Formats: sequence, C-alpha cells, structure tokens
Amino acid sequence: MLTDSTRQKSFPTMENMTYLNTAAEGIPPVEVGRALEQYFHDHQLGMDGRKLHDAQREAVKALTARMYGLTADEIGLCSCSSEAYNLAMMALQLQPSDEIVISDLDFPAGATPWLQPICPATVKVWQARDGGLRVEDLIPLLSTHTRLVQVSLVSFFNGFMISLPAVVEAVRQHSPALLALDVTQALGRVPLNLAGVDLVVSSTHKWILSSHGGGLVGVPAARTQDWTVPAGGWFNLQDPFGPDRFERAVSLGGAASFSVGMPNYPAIYAIRAGLEYIQSVGIEAIAQAAQPLVHACLEGLTKLPVELLTPDEKDALAGIIAFRHPASDEIYRYLHAENIHIMTHAGRLRVSIHGYNTMADVEKFLHKLEEALNHVSPG
Ligand SMILES: Cc1ncc(COP(=O)(O)O)c(C=O)c1O
Repeated sequence: MLTDSTRQKSFPTMENMTYLNTAAEGIPPVEVGRALEQYFHDHQLGMDGRKLHDAQREAVKALTARMYGLTADEIGLCSCSSEAYNLAMMALQLQPSDEIVISDLDFPAGATPWLQPICPATVKVWQARDGGLRVEDLIPLLSTHTRLVQVSLVSFFNGFMISLPAVVEAVRQHSPALLALDVTQALGRVPLNLAGVDLVVSSTHKWILSSHGGGLVGVPAARTQDWTVPAGGWFNLQDPFGPDRFERAVSLGGAASFSVGMPNYPAIYAIRAGLEYIQSVGIEAIAQAAQPLVHACLEGLTKLPVELLTPDEKDALAGIIAFRHPASDEIYRYLHAENIHIMTHAGRLRVSIHGYNTMADVEKFLHKLEEALNHVSPG
C-alpha cells in the first residue's frame, strides 16, 4: 500500500520498529502532528479561533459521515466510546422489564454501562462459541422485551468480525430492539456497510491513526427520538442561555445530543487529519494490502505451539489475531526486547495488522515468536 519512502515520510518512528499493535494504539502519521500544531496556532487567536475550530469539527462530521454511510448531521462527537455508551444508556430511559443483550467478545466500554446498579434492565450475554459470535446463539436471547443489542463489529479480544447483515436480520425478526455497534476495531481498516444499525460508536486512537480524546457517534435520522440524550450541559441544549434557562433544559435531537460540553478541539484537529489520511489512501486499498499479511500471520501461528483464539474463518477476519500461551508475559517481554510490539492483556497475546505493515513485519514476528517459544520452553 505504501512505498518505503511514503512510509518513512509519514511514519518515521516505524523505521526501526515492528509495530503490530494498532488495535491498542495506531501510529499517527506526521500529518496528525501538523494538525495538532495547527490547533495550537488557532487557539492562540483566543476566541477568534473558535470559527476555525468549528470548521474542523464540521470537517470531522463530514469525514465520519462518509465512512459510516450517514450524513454530517447524523454524526455527534464526544470524548471516548465509554462516554458515548453512558449517554446512550441515559437516552434509553430503561425500565425493569427491559432487556439488553451484550456479548462476551465486547470491550468494556459498550458492555458495562448496562451492568451498573442504576441500570434497571436485565442483561443477557451472547456467548462466543469456537471463538465466534454465532447468530443462532443470539436468537434465543431476543424477545419482545429486548430494547438493545450491543455488539462490536470486530472484537477487541480476538478480532472476530460478526456477519452484520445476519445480525441485523435476526434482531429485526425476533425483537423490537435497537442495534448498537462499536466499530472501534474496524473503522479505518475494514470497508463498512452499516445498513440497519441504529447507533454507531468509535474511539479515535486506533485504526484511523488519530489522537486520543474522540468518540464518533452515528445516529441515523430515523432514530433521532430513540437517541436523544437527556443530559445536562450546554452544547447539547436547544437554548442554553435563554431567559428560561433555570426552568427547563431541552436537548438537541439525536447525534447532536451526544456533545454535551465544549468539544475536545485538539482531538478534533487530529481526527480530521487522521480521517483525511485514511481516506486519501482508501479503505479498500488498506484492506487489500493488509489482508494477505493477516492470512500469512494466522497460517504461521497455526504451525506454532500456541492456542489460537481467533477462528480460522476468512470472512470473520479483520486486522486482529489473538492467541494464548502459559508464558505469555515472558513471550511479550522477549518480543519487546527485539522491538516487536504486540499486546498482552486480558489473558492473551494479540497481534494487529494495518496497511502500514509489511510482510517483513509478519515474517520477523513469526520468526522471533518461534525463538521466544523455544526460549521459554526449551526442548
Ligand atoms: C472495541 C473497543 N471499543 C472501545 C475502546 C475504547 O473505549 P474508550 O474510547 O472509551 O477508551 C476500545 C479499546 O480501547 C475497543 O477495543
């Protein structure tokens, strides 16, 4: 996807690293650094900078809309996925008879707001089988009481990518529920078709190669009523400084209600630059460049004495592969000492592969992993 010289130009720190940890932190291109400098420059104008900040915010909404398949008005910006999900819980105003379905491949941001004592609904867990979320296991969890199904398009845990059209169909056929989708581990890496999704959420510091501090929320116009957040604030309110401001608070509708206070403008500048970078390369081109590396990595791992946690199902593979070994901490340290960056977390090791990676990265990782395995269990 990238030539040696464009990679070196945009990602100079990657020259001596084997970086296979984008699912934790994407490496931002230098364009993102320039955007952060631009923020500082614009902020030095004081309040006159706000017009410039707002233009960046509008650009992020338009760029996100293109990726989500929505319009700019259907995009709201908050500060992280966790914030988006807590606000989403407020919007639903759940009752004790309501049910929520979450999955055991989900990141805590989307799974835990419903587990807090203030949430009156009953939570059901869609359990993975053989590493994957099977639609036939979702159906028995759905009923006329289901208000929400929350799932990640690509699991942070093992990279399993759900079959979205099949999930949408099951939810529609077997319940009146809304479907919320966390696309954090897919956005910027996998071509998206989010038809039928009622709420889209993504963090910004991973595959879109931007900074921390963003939550990209998509609310289709038809779902405005369902996702209007009754939160305090001002940026989210219809008339926060009107004469009756100490008598009532009325939220803006839908996506706009997820931005409660002053936007995180430094992050917004960085997100604009990251999304522009990703879109200039093209998601199809990224996926085409990275997918053969994922397949090669998975094939290499099947030949080593590790327990694969990612199912070997081509349609369910995105950018993440996870595996287990009793000596995972030692393996992690061995690889890190060789400047090979992967993740150790939640009881497993995880490799993630983006368009800026090369087959040489995968080969080096597999070779050094084999060395590490011999090192931790000689003979
Ligand atoms: C699927 C998924 N959602 C969300 C997050 C992060 O959530 P937040 O933006 O609240 O930190 C992560 C990882 O950090 C993730 O893997």
